[in-house]
Amino acid sequence: MKTINNVATLTNVNGVGVIAINFPPVNALSASVRDGIHGAMQAAIADPAIDAVVLRCEGSTFIAGADITEFGKPPAGVSLGEVQRILEESPKPVVAAIHGTALGGGLEVALVCHYRIAVPTARLGLPEVNIGLLPGAGGTQRLPRIVGPEAALEMMTSGAHVRAKDALQSGLLDELAPEDDLSGAAVALARRVVDEKRPLRKIRDQNEKVEAARGHPEIFAKFRQANAKKFRGFEAPKKIIECVEAAVNLPIDEGLQLERKYFMELMKGDQSAAQRYYFFASRQAWNVPGLAKDAAVLPVQSVGVIGAGTMGAGIAMNFLNVGIPVHIVETRQEALDRGLKTIRTNYENTAKKGRLTAQAIEERMALLTGSLDLQNLSDMDLVIEAVFENMDVKKDIFGRLDRICKAGAILASNTSALDLNEIASATSRPEAVIGLHFFSPANVMKLLEVVRGAKTSDSVIATSMQLAKKIGKVAVLVGVCPGFVGNRILGQRQREANALIMEGAMPWAVDRVLYDFGFPMGPFAMSDLAGLDLGWSKEKSSSSTLREVLCEMDRRGQKTGAGFYDYDEKRTAVPSPVVEEIIQRFAQKQGKQARKVSDEEILERCIYPMINEGAKILEEGMAIRASDIDVVWVNGYGWPVYRGGPMFYGDLVGLPKVLAKMKEFEASHGPQFKPAKLLEELVASGRQFSDLNPGK
Ligand code: 3HC
Repeated sequence: MKTINNVATLTNVNGVGVIAINFPPVNALSASVRDGIHGAMQAAIADPAIDAVVLRCEGSTFIAGADITEFGKPPAGVSLGEVQRILEESPKPVVAAIHGTALGGGLEVALVCHYRIAVPTARLGLPEVNIGLLPGAGGTQRLPRIVGPEAALEMMTSGAHVRAKDALQSGLLDELAPEDDLSGAAVALARRVVDEKRPLRKIRDQNEKVEAARGHPEIFAKFRQANAKKFRGFEAPKKIIECVEAAVNLPIDEGLQLERKYFMELMKGDQSAAQRYYFFASRQAWNVPGLAKDAAVLPVQSVGVIGAGTMGAGIAMNFLNVGIPVHIVETRQEALDRGLKTIRTNYENTAKKGRLTAQAIEERMALLTGSLDLQNLSDMDLVIEAVFENMDVKKDIFGRLDRICKAGAILASNTSALDLNEIASATSRPEAVIGLHFFSPANVMKLLEVVRGAKTSDSVIATSMQLAKKIGKVAVLVGVCPGFVGNRILGQRQREANALIMEGAMPWAVDRVLYDFGFPMGPFAMSDLAGLDLGWSKEKSSSSTLREVLCEMDRRGQKTGAGFYDYDEKRTAVPSPVVEEIIQRFAQKQGKQARKVSDEEILERCIYPMINEGAKILEEGMAIRASDIDVVWVNGYGWPVYRGGPMFYGDLVGLPKVLAKMKEFEASHGPQFKPAKLLEELVASGRQFSDLNPGK
């Protein structure tokens, strides 16, 4: 065995030079990995005792891509282009041996090898789109040459990982290897290639599939149209499509040039910076500093849910999905039956879309039981209360759970608004009480705010975070404050949206600005969708707010065909002259003169107070780090990931500008715009949110 550098070795096995890369955790293509492969290839080509080469990796995976931490830094070592050139132009056949994942630049390295073999559990993908990039090492030109332009478009714009079996079928792989002998099978394949004098196959020369698509621009027109909604606002997918068009219409070297140009443009842009930031932010959120090293992670093998409403049913499904039995408790049989039925119907709807088998539905339903008796929760490892938001009711339930549940059980509340510490005070074991704030629909939404009470134990926190991972959530640990992190910041935007329409901006103008910013919909369209009558009662309504007036007129949102907007039979929203008039009347009553409000003001009034509130949250220690706030907003509130999150956006705009605007609004509109102390301090010291990071 020859050591090439600190990450690469070359071993002659039966005349085949096996290059092994070892750069944990994911063998990313850092300078040392590039140097290692290049050096090993030079040695293998020069060695007359070596007839062919196998490229493989140690550890849990093949190369998982370029090293994202190197982006934006000055280039070092051999370039990826040079590595690819020596592999592709090698006079000796090269076989890529893949296990784990071959992603991004990793797959692009495999695509310049002459043959590819993988174990059945391997996955292959070009996920650069998820970090606002396109495959920049030939992927956009080589992939369509193997799998065809349509499949390549799908794979690169979704970033999906393809299973080895499917990759074999599409021609991405030449062979599957036994799970436990990849290296042996790869060497055998390399030997066969030499002994049978098979050609040095270069994907760059395989033009059949791209030529077949030439003269068919409709392939791209259709793809753009079908995905218009999904790609809205994102730059990378559009550039990927243009590159695949180039693969079809231009010689490969011209296609590669275009790919490079777009890759560099995207790399320098704000979107990729935001998405790369988010990649690390979403991983860092799991890291809770300061927890006792010996905090035990408790086994959670049974879950009780109190309340079989939409929320309770959705919460239960998360656990059933991963094989954990759930017992739901309700107060009335009818409500319980309805809840159990909702769960079955949800599963059946998923099955109709082909994403669940009939057998899987039955397996999950078999784990579900229900009753009207809290006593049945006595043995549960975790109990989650999901009843309506009323402190007295919740305290009563927690007092009873305290008497019923076994020692060591975790007692969780799904409250989105109430003081968790007060709820915990109804028990004799506040250390066992935690908030698990799921978002509706709880079986779909990724975000979980894990709310740490004043006395919650480290072990209960560690267990909750691990459990969140198990059920596929993105968890963020937050502290107890009104609205926690997500809703507290939402409150700022909502207040300003409501204020703006009284000053002359119509609801559709506010919605359009926020939609164009990248939110899936604006706050008024959202209210119409959710129903304006949430929490409204006819008896108590006194025409004192705009919402009350609209509800009294039976304009309760989409479901009644009218709300802030009018709706036609297809539920298309149209600005409503009636609402415009009512708003004007209200504004007049409040003594407000309608004025022209610019789009810029709408955006700044809605977004800057959110950033400011985020700063207050950090100041109070209610979130561990600024990036956690961004993870909450991207996952729970539709903040466009290509803008990173409110705190990242604040840094991008520049905190001095945010502060100056907050001061200006404070002077013209009042103390609700008072800048956070932290914001003032950061600006005074020339720092930004990304400079604060206790987790690192
Ligand atoms: N560069 C640098 N670090 C990376 C990395 C990369 N490409 N991929 C993963 N890591 C790091 C993570 O930050 C994490 O670090 P930490 O332990 O310090 O938090 C560690 O590796 C493990 O990652 P995960 O926690 O994500 O581990 P999983 O086992 O859940 O997932 C994975 C492994 C599927 C490889 C996942 O990490 C992943 O999807 N990585 C990104 C892959 C990617 O986007 N590749 C394309 C990069 S861009 C590119 O290749 C450009 C090219 O076209 C020129």
